[in-house]
Amino acid sequence: MREALWTAPGASMAHDLTHAPPECLADGGDREAIELGRALFRSPTVLGGPAARIGLSCASCHANGRANARFFLPELTDTIGAADVTSEWASDVRGDGVMNPRPIPDLVDVGARTTFGSNGVTSLRAFVHAVIVEEFQGAEPPPRALDGMLAYLRALRADACPAAGDAPASLAALAADVRRAHAAARASAGAGDDASAALALLAAQDAMARIVERLPARAFARARRDIEGLARDLGRMRTRADLAAALAEPGWRVRFDARIATLAPREDETYFNEVRLAAALR
Ligand code: HEC
Repeated sequence: MREALWTAPGASMAHDLTHAPPECLADGGDREAIELGRALFRSPTVLGGPAARIGLSCASCHANGRANARFFLPELTDTIGAADVTSEWASDVRGDGVMNPRPIPDLVDVGARTTFGSNGVTSLRAFVHAVIVEEFQGAEPPPRALDGMLAYLRALRADACPAAGDAPASLAALAADVRRAHAAARASAGAGDDASAALALLAAQDAMARIVERLPARAFARARRDIEGLARDLGRMRTRADLAAALAEPGWRVRFDARIATLAPREDETYFNEVRLAAALR
């Protein structure tokens, strides 16, 4: 599981890998933009360089738009729950040659703040753009994709937080991430923005990888193969000239939903289950 790479080692690891703070996503607003941003926030492909290669995304640090209190990647920090935003590992323009991690902030109500980060950047757009292209060497995001990420960040609001408790990792939650990213791709392609649609499809593929990672290799060989096949189908779609038409067809969603429905009764045997995961980690 790639997430284990940036989770502090120790007795609570199985718990940490199966729990996250709940998302506080407000209703309303421009849903199409928010959903595109939500998918990209969870996608390593938005970042570049070594971070993208190991599978790191905005959500690795800002879990569900909150703070990952157990973040620990030796390349980026010597303190649990913090990250060096001027590291030479992640960036060839920002590195300052010292390990100076900062606490990872909760992004709830970030839209109401007037300065961002400890250098006091005054524009959220400029801050996020710099995180992507400078801090992590990501490619210049399509304008609609960046708009979407800002819309998502502004929709994270304290008044939308659920009453209490962590959000447990589950097959249903990850399958919903796949469906939402796929729907965001369809909406982007429908709006004539194939570049953002391709990014959203990569986000969907990555969420599928996060499902596969939680399926024990031998006992779930068949399910893993099927889901990998479905992910490759999306991969092939990305480059189609008639992307909007391809995504408008219901076939892929029907096959994905059927595969997840077959898998769901066996969820207890997977690494969505904390006890199973703890045993595997031992
Ligand atoms: C490696 C962990 C990490 C990743 C990945 C990451 N961030 Fe952050 N983020 C931080 C840290 C640490 C800070 C605090 C920076 C500072 O103090 O200057 C921060 C600050 C922020 C802030 C400012 C919040 C505030 O209240 O000042 C925003 C907005 C933000 N990040 C959005 C994002 C987005 C969007 C992405 C993905 C494109 C992202 N972050 C990826 C660790 C991360």
